[in-house]
Amino acid sequence: MKIIKKDILIIGSGLAGLGCALNLNKKFKIGILSKASVKESSTFYAQGGIAAVNSIDDSCKSHIQDTMIAGAGLCDEKVVEKVVSQGRSLIQDLINWGVDFTKLENIKEYDLTKEGGHTKRRIFHKDDNTGAEIENKLLQNIFSRKNIEIFENHTVINIITDTINGEIIACGVYALDNFGGEIITFEANYIILATGGAGKVYLYTSNPDISSGDGIAIGYRAGAIIANMEFMQFHPTCLYHPDAKSFLISESLRGEGAKLKLEDGAEFMKSYHELKELAPRDIVARAIDFEMKKLGITNVYLDITHKDPHFVKKRFPTIYKNCLNFGIDITKDLVPIVPASHYTCGGVKTDIDGRTNIKDLFAIGEVASTGLHGANRLASNSLLEAIFFAKRVAKFINKNFEPKKFLNIKKWNIGKAIDSNETVLIQQNWEEIRKFMWNYVGIVRTDKRLMRAKRRIELLKKEIQEYYWDFKLTKPLLELRNLATVAEIIILSASKRKESRGLHYNLDYPKKLKIAKNTLLKKN
Ligand code: FAD
Ligand code: SIN
Repeated sequence: MKIIKKDILIIGSGLAGLGCALNLNKKFKIGILSKASVKESSTFYAQGGIAAVNSIDDSCKSHIQDTMIAGAGLCDEKVVEKVVSQGRSLIQDLINWGVDFTKLENIKEYDLTKEGGHTKRRIFHKDDNTGAEIENKLLQNIFSRKNIEIFENHTVINIITDTINGEIIACGVYALDNFGGEIITFEANYIILATGGAGKVYLYTSNPDISSGDGIAIGYRAGAIIANMEFMQFHPTCLYHPDAKSFLISESLRGEGAKLKLEDGAEFMKSYHELKELAPRDIVARAIDFEMKKLGITNVYLDITHKDPHFVKKRFPTIYKNCLNFGIDITKDLVPIVPASHYTCGGVKTDIDGRTNIKDLFAIGEVASTGLHGANRLASNSLLEAIFFAKRVAKFINKNFEPKKFLNIKKWNIGKAIDSNETVLIQQNWEEIRKFMWNYVGIVRTDKRLMRAKRRIELLKKEIQEYYWDFKLTKPLLELRNLATVAEIIILSASKRKESRGLHYNLDYPKKLKIAKNTLLKKN
């Protein structure tokens, strides 16, 4: 069995993982594992941009306030202050790595855009394709670092832990080489989860296929505390088209004036919030859901046809081209949209240095629950969070690095597993989970729906577990097991919250309780 030793292992090659690797001291041997091709990540598809205060009419105080309002009483104010106050300097780090944010024409100033919940223009962007620009530029820097080795198409299965004097310590991971089928043992002094979110738990999502919540499930199995998983964010505007898988229509369209409409042209957001289209995301997504259920319709529409077509094509080239491929000219046509799962606000609980309750295990980016987002993330705050905590963790390790001794690393036991010829079962289970999560644990919940979801997931978990031990591991099987674990964690967390707050809306408890509490889960 192959064993690979590194000083530091980073699981994930989105902004959090790459940003951390670039901030770590060059003397460390670093391994980055990525379960798909290295670029494939939510980061790569990010559209709107990254929030940071950069104009004289804006202030950190205002960005903090907007973040806290969106977070509906559950943000950790100290964390919000720290992250927001570093915003501009983190943008500078990205610029120093070559990220070319869009500037105003003929002026050297950056073009700041606006999104829901922001009271000021403060979002740095690269057209409507910010994530690809960030991912590409960071990778160029990574490729020039001799101390960093990338393992593409390696899916981490579990964290290897040891217990010393009653303390659980992370000391490596088992990973599947997706193509060779071999299970490799990676040993390291520090393990950093940067595996992104869990949007794929739901039938309709803006997320790429990699977002199956692996890091949350892996962390949970290892004994990490998982926080606030009931707060799954639904993005109000994903393209509604039979052939458009997961295509987002950025909130920055609404930031630049696009309106939400019904088929007959009626605007409806004014009945829901004074900020209308630019209300926090939970409110806009619920308003659309309400209209769709009230009228029995499949979708509503986004309208930006009143804007100058040259502006629209220049400002939103990716969205323009993509929609055109589906026969929709956004400069002339209403764009059919529906809400879809988009961002996992909860995750592996960390402190301000990205540390989890397991020694030497860190979590950064969307996989983590840091206290920044509370019950609902403010738009464009997640890329900011990813790069803030990437740098914090790197600083912490640079300062406190200690090699490990006396670790007892168990070998992977393949047992009697045989090759499977029943991949159809994986597909079936995967679809079933995503469907009932959408119907029972979606934008609007009830106790009855949550109970039903709980019964379904208990049954499915048993089936998946049998399958897991009988057959050789494949990436789809690993993802299915993780998806089921994360679905169960969401259901349990949602069932524990007896109120409606932020992204969690339960018709049986429509009011917000006076005291805001985090939902914490840990495996027995
Ligand atoms: P990701 O970028 O998702 O990277 C996760 C990495 O982990 C991948 O490399 C993946 O292969 C790897 N991985 C996962 N599981 C395993 C495993 N088991 N083994 C090995 N590797 C694994 N946020 C904003 O702030 N602004 C925006 O404009 C914005 N737009 C968005 C648009 C879209 C369409 C989407 C989907 C999200 C958007 N978001 C935006 C959210 C934001 O992009 C993500 O929260 C952020 O990029 C997450 O970064 P990350 O590094 O934590 O994870
Ligand atoms: C978008 O461009 O609408 C996504 C922004 C975000 O998720 O923060």
